Amino acid sequence: TTVEWEAESYDMGGHDTYMHKEIHEQADAVDRALRGRIDDRFSTVHLGGLNLDARDARAVRRVKILGCGTSYHAGQIGAQMIEELARIPSDAEPASEFRYRNPVVDPDTLYIAVSQSGETYDVLAAVQELKRKGARVLGLVNVVGSAIARETDGGIYVHAGPEVCVVSTKCFTNMVVSFGLLALHLGRIRDLSVADGKRIIEGLRKLPAQISEILANEAEIEKLAGEYADAKSMMFIGRVRGYPVAREASLKLKEVSYIHAEAYPASELKHGPLALIEPAMPTVAIVPDDELLEKNRAALEEIKARSGRILAVAHQVQEKADHTIVVPKNEDELDPILMGIPLQLLAYYTAKAMGRDIDKPRNLAKSVTVE
Ligand code: G6P
Repeated sequence: TTVEWEAESYDMGGHDTYMHKEIHEQADAVDRALRGRIDDRFSTVHLGGLNLDARDARAVRRVKILGCGTSYHAGQIGAQMIEELARIPSDAEPASEFRYRNPVVDPDTLYIAVSQSGETYDVLAAVQELKRKGARVLGLVNVVGSAIARETDGGIYVHAGPEVCVVSTKCFTNMVVSFGLLALHLGRIRDLSVADGKRIIEGLRKLPAQISEILANEAEIEKLAGEYADAKSMMFIGRVRGYPVAREASLKLKEVSYIHAEAYPASELKHGPLALIEPAMPTVAIVPDDELLEKNRAALEEIKARSGRILAVAHQVQEKADHTIVVPKNEDELDPILMGIPLQLLAYYTAKAMGRDIDKPRNLAKSVTVE
């Protein structure tokens, strides 16, 4: 069984699909996630519902994030943000995998359940199992008062607003922003400096305008979608911060266009997937202007040497790429929030060119409330 939004009560506002509408709501949605939470005096953020005092936050030795689908990918970016800003070892795992492997539940680990609907059965069951074993579990949830929101010890509402399209866009972005807030909060209770706190806050504040800037380039992305819509299969690559962005972009393309896509860390290409590279298998590469820029450029060269077509998402035009979508630069830690947005549009326009049922892809449901 599935739970559906009451779509009739949520106007499409001149857009042809909810997906298109929701992609365009992201600047406002991020603004909502930030509103009332920034504390300039201490260069941190207030998260009212967290239920985790400073002493508890300092005692956390590990963070484990659980979710499914897009929410799991948001959790992967979140884990990196927490590790970078708060220096707490963190990772994300699909909730379903976690609950079937008799996990070691550790009292010093902070568990975070991520879910748009707050009703996904695998996530809920993982939360219940963790609670039964005495763990501390927070929720990072969109739907207020949902089952996961109720069963967790506290958490953060991501404030994306109702999301109707089965494939998640604005909720993903707001989840990642919410993880940024949590990472900043934990960091400033631990060892993140005031200067770094300020730097991250400035970066967060820039996001809504930068999202609008990316969306203003929509016509260019529509054109690019036409160029790649003939692909039978596409490869998505990224490194470290860019890797979960590549994974989410690959999922988006599969879900709405039904084009086969895989995501790989760029560093793993040489251990197998390079064998697939040929003109009929284009690569989408996430190439942020960070400390790994040269490494990423080398991967583009390897692909080009094997006649692969390349679409780069980068902060500057990439010579080796056939096309580059240039996105505005933010702080290195926050760049992943922006780099996936043009690829939501790429998935949307590819699906549109192929005449797909964009808001309700075959075989998928918005909310999976069974095993
Ligand atoms: C379903 C949806 C996905 C979603 C996943 C998790 O599979 O099709 O788009 O990411 O469930 O949903 P949740 O509500 O827990 O975020």
